[in-house]
Amino acid sequence: MQPSPASKPPLDVLRLRRLLAGNRLAGEVIYKPQTGSTNNDALAAARGTAPEGTLFITDFQTQGRGTRGRTWRSPGNTSLLLSVILRPTRVLKPVELTQLAALGLCNGLRESTSLDVRIKWPNDAMVRDKKIGGVLVEPLPGSAMAAVVGIGANLNLAASDIGLAEGSVTSVLDETGSRCDRELVIAAVVDALERSYRALEDGGSLFEDWTAQSAVIGRSVSLRTETRTYVGAVSGFDPGGELLLDCEDGTRRRFTAGRLELL
Ligand code: BTN
Repeated sequence: MQPSPASKPPLDVLRLRRLLAGNRLAGEVIYKPQTGSTNNDALAAARGTAPEGTLFITDFQTQGRGTRGRTWRSPGNTSLLLSVILRPTRVLKPVELTQLAALGLCNGLRESTSLDVRIKWPNDAMVRDKKIGGVLVEPLPGSAMAAVVGIGANLNLAASDIGLAEGSVTSVLDETGSRCDRELVIAAVVDALERSYRALEDGGSLFEDWTAQSAVIGRSVSLRTETRTYVGAVSGFDPGGELLLDCEDGTRRRFTAGRLELL
């Protein structure tokens, strides 16, 4: 998984900074060719005085983290790997931060690649029912007014390179057959994130937009909680972001968390 400089160039950071100029969520762009985890870097900086919009970007993570304690792996120089510090002026609920991050990723990827990117509850980015990216939102412990939004997406790699379950993961390269312009995709995702963040900061809600982009409404799914697995059809979400499931046994249940599989 080490970078292979000949075929996969690192990010052109000067160009990326130019593309991101004026973006409130990219006030300072800190690039490292390799790091442990950009979320860890951002959390450490957020514990200090780093301002909102400090953006950490890398080409390779040695300890990339996913949700539920999982590892996030990407071959070097192929992906979108970034984390940004937010210091909202009003308290944002975890569900609002999750929707924000998912929308930034999905809107930015769609706009820059033309792929039909949709959201699998609560925050996976999917193309043709395969995962292309994900987000890891981490409020700063002890502070309601700071959080780190981490985003990862598979761009110029073959999903088989990641060594995950065959058929469940995809990438821009797999979907389009060609490599994308990583700087443009990253800039589009940060732009989309900023647009949704501005809407939230202005007191708006992202619920409608987030729901409209769902990959799961009307779909048959299985949902695994800590205690059991439910099978049914997703009828929608409630405004708190909970998933509403019409279960096989005729009951309608709501879930705040769980592992969702599309059937
Ligand atoms: C998921 O499990 O779907 C979330 C994946 C989030 C991965 C990104 S990559 C950049 C940032 N740094 C990390 O260690 N994780 C996030």
